Amino acid sequence: MAGYIVFAGSANPALAAAVTQALEVVPGAAEVERFPDGETSVTLMESVRGKDVYLLQPTCPPVNDNVMELLVFADACRRAAAGRIHAVLPYYGYARSDKRHGRREAITASMVALLMRTAGIDHVVTLDLHTDQVEGFFPGPFDTLTAVPTLCAALGPELPPDAVVVSPDAGRAKLATEYATRLDRPLAVLHKRRETGTRTQVTHLVGEVEGRTCLIIDDMISTGGTLVESVGALREAGAAAFVVSATHGLLLRNAVDRLADAGVERLFVTDTVPPCEDRRGIVRVVSVAPLLAHALRQLVQDRSLQELF
Ligand code: R5P
Repeated sequence: MAGYIVFAGSANPALAAAVTQALEVVPGAAEVERFPDGETSVTLMESVRGKDVYLLQPTCPPVNDNVMELLVFADACRRAAAGRIHAVLPYYGYARSDKRHGRREAITASMVALLMRTAGIDHVVTLDLHTDQVEGFFPGPFDTLTAVPTLCAALGPELPPDAVVVSPDAGRAKLATEYATRLDRPLAVLHKRRETGTRTQVTHLVGEVEGRTCLIIDDMISTGGTLVESVGALREAGAAAFVVSATHGLLLRNAVDRLADAGVERLFVTDTVPPCEDRRGIVRVVSVAPLLAHALRQLVQDRSLQELF
């Protein structure tokens, strides 16, 4: 039997170690080098001939380097006669570039999908995509897992009974509904208007938040700008306290400080991307390693992922 092999890219070694440990497998041996001119080199140190290969690599910052490393890894596997090549992307970089907004823009999420296919990737596994349509950009099997049940299990005991789940914009209403249903809490939705390419303004609030703790959810936190603005609008509407939950905690620049200064008491994220510095002690990282290991256990036996949803 050809078997399978899991390679860990360099984007998130701690998550890769947790997943391979949970699977009780030793990661495949490979050498990843960055040359002085910025080029990436991957050399597989063991045979993959005929094997199912799983490449574990969130394409988080530095996004371009991590995307390129994934592509180079896949190319190395394809040329070494791997069987099927599965890209496991706990975080799918460029997913927000999924439409053209009526401008002369690239749809980079689609371009990355096509590059993955060209490099030899047969199947993509990811988690909480920014929008569902990204699945359609990849011309092959695509599985999107969700960290919402994992986050809700951690959030449940910490939320006061009066808490309301808040979507920061209409685009996250479906995700917020998922949280509200699992946590058995009411739902509120903010609506925002885009003023410029980077600036938005909250214009409407649907739902009751006065005197309540708001659990604001999102798929990802980058600079924290969206959430700081949401907290401001909710505070104006009389909300009493703020907790945040998001699958992908990129938390770039001083996002944690900005959120703490805005009054966020607790910030739940997962480890799809490496953890950031938390001088304020508000971040709680919940691991998706058991979820990914469970998914991989099913996949290596060609079994359904249905039980994970
Ligand atoms: C936007 O549609 C996304 O769902 C996030 O709300 C956004 O990308 C987060 O970025 P930032 O934290 O920089 O506002």
